[in-house]
Formats: sequence, structure tokens, C-alpha cells
Amino acid sequence: MDTNLIQKVSESFAKSFSSEPVLIFSPGRINIIGEHTDYNAGFVFPAAIDKGIVAAIQKAEGSVSTATAIDMDETIQFDTDNLDTSNLSGWASYVVGVVAETQKLGKTVGNFDIVFGGNIPDGAGMSSSAALENSVVFGINELFGLGLTKYEMILISQAAEHNYVGVKCGIMDQYASMFGIENSALLLDCRTAKAEPFAIDFKDYQLLLFNTNVKHKLSDSAYNDRRAVCEKTAELLGIDALRDATEVDLEKVKDQLSAEDFQKVVYVVQENNRAQAAAVAMKEGDLVELGQLIYGSHNGLQHQYKVSCEELDFLVDLAKENSDILGARMMGGGFGGCTINLIKKTAVEEFKKTAVTTYTEKFGHACSPYEVALSDGTHKI
Ligand code: GLA
Repeated sequence: MDTNLIQKVSESFAKSFSSEPVLIFSPGRINIIGEHTDYNAGFVFPAAIDKGIVAAIQKAEGSVSTATAIDMDETIQFDTDNLDTSNLSGWASYVVGVVAETQKLGKTVGNFDIVFGGNIPDGAGMSSSAALENSVVFGINELFGLGLTKYEMILISQAAEHNYVGVKCGIMDQYASMFGIENSALLLDCRTAKAEPFAIDFKDYQLLLFNTNVKHKLSDSAYNDRRAVCEKTAELLGIDALRDATEVDLEKVKDQLSAEDFQKVVYVVQENNRAQAAAVAMKEGDLVELGQLIYGSHNGLQHQYKVSCEELDFLVDLAKENSDILGARMMGGGFGGCTINLIKKTAVEEFKKTAVTTYTEKFGHACSPYEVALSDGTHKI
């Protein structure tokens, strides 16, 4: 955990308020494999990381709540007794959205003051949004003794994103951020919400991320469009979710889908299989196989699901030229953000240099390497 960030948030809180706040760390996440499978009730393989949101929160005295995002240098005020959700935008949608969704469950949320900051760059595909949502719901649960389970909390976070941010996301990000386990990744079955923890020790290899530092427009609507295609296809097949379909099943509805949409649903079925195959490869310690599955995932995201972009493809292609990298792919929703690479430890420093230099030459701005540690989920500090 980043002690500088904790100090920064605490100091900022102390400037405006005199009491001792509850301090919360809520992590972002990575995902080894299983992309766009969560809202198809399939498998994902995320892990919480040591980067995320630190929030300082206390009960407010009067009838005004104050929320401050120190990274943006912005403050908003609202009254939880009279919540106005009509003009929300940016980070305020997450904070107020979480309060609104908590109230929908009949819970009484008093006014509170929250100051938060983070160390995940916006749009990096490491889920700073889930980290923020979880920090707020965890904080108000703590302050007002709402008695919410962790699972209820992540459903609130997800609903806030659906209803106030407008992204019909799955449960992966909120789950990983809340339930993360130090040094472990979670093979999460998104239908049952049961996860199997895998202690991560890649021996001579490690995970390395590169942020493309781009976030292309329209990513939210493209996300929702793809989810709609998946749901429509499940309906045509008379099943609950694509998790229940095989490639043979998909052939039955092929003529009712455009060629592009057919490729998208094939991708989902294949990716769900890859996520489960990755679990087997990890149990057997077969990193070469795991790497191949990771490259396969990117190939599908690029050519079938079509959620990649030039910058991500460039970094994955660069990885493919390097025999010390076993696998690489885009991570998260897509259209920008990070790639995740399974790379030999001894090759890390050299590849960081090569990637930053060649990427900068090509795109006129740098990409940023990140080494992350796998951490526990949302908790009090
Ligand atoms: C975003 C969403 C997740 C998931 C990924 C793609 O991060 O929030 O629910 O769908 O995209 O795997």
C-alpha cells in the first residue's frame, strides 16, 4: 500500500475536518484472462492490486455531506435525506450513485464527509471506478452500521455503475476489488459468485502491465452494445447466458445474427473456455500453455470481439517478438488502458525500455510500465 497516498489523503482531510476519520483502502484489479465473460455468467481470473483508492470518511455534523476528490481538486455537497441524482457527472456519479443504491435497499444513510485520492490512472483499465464505489459503500456501511455483507456491497457498487454512470458492467471489477486476497488471483464463477483462490507464484516469470495512456471515445456505448448482442443471442438460444452455450449451439442461430455479431458471441464462448483452461494450466504449472491462452484471448478481443485498439495491438505485437514473454493481451473493457504480460523476470527492465522507446516513436507519447503486487480487497487501514 502506498503510504504517501495515505498521508496525502489524511492531510487533506485534516485541513477541512477536525475528527479522526475511518481510513479505507480499496484496490483496483488486474485480470489474467476471461475478458467480457463476466456479464455472460462465465469465468474470469482477476486479482486485487496494491494500487487503488484511499478514502478518509466520517459522519457529518449537519445536513450536508461533502465529498472531495483530491486528484481533481474538486468538492461536491449533497444531502443524503434529500438526494438529488439528476445532474451527476464524473466521479460524483459513483459517490452519489452508491448512496442512492444503498437507500433503495431501505437503508438509512446519514450525512458524511469523504476525502479520497488514488494512484491508478483514470482509464487505465485497472478499475479505479470499482475501487471508488467499494470504498464509499464500505465506508458508509462502517459509519452507519448498515449491516451489509460484502456481497451486498458489491451489488450496490455495480448498480451504481449501471444506473448512474450508464455502463452495464459485469461483477468482476467490484468482486475482485472487495474480495481480493494477497498474492492470489481469483478464478471467479460469475454465475455463482464463488471464487477459487490461486496462490500466484510464476517462478522465473512475473506479470507486467503497460498503460497505453489512451482511452478512446465511445468505449461505454460499445461496451453496452456488446452486452446487448450477447443477451440477444442467449435469448435466441433459449438459455440464461452465453456461459451455457457451446460453439455448436451458436451455429443454430448463425443465420439470425450479422457476421460480425456471430464472431462476437463465438469469442465469448471461446474466452470462457480459455479462462477455465488457464486455471488447469496454472494448477499444472504450465506457463507456456497459460501464455498461449493469454495471446489467444488478445487475438479474440482484437479480431472477433473488436474491443482493442492500435496502441494495445502494437504492445501485444511487440511482446510476441520477445521470446522471454510467454503471453500478452489487452486487459479490461478495452479501447485503451493496459496490456498485461507474462514475462521472464530477468527480461523486465530491458523490455520496459524497448516498449517505452518504440511506443513513443510510433505514437508520439509514452506508454507506462506498471509492476503490481496482488493485495487484499477493500479494508480499513
Ligand atoms: C469492464 C467491466 C467488467 C468486465 C470487463 C471486461 O472492466 O467493468 O465488468 O466486463 O470490462 O472483461
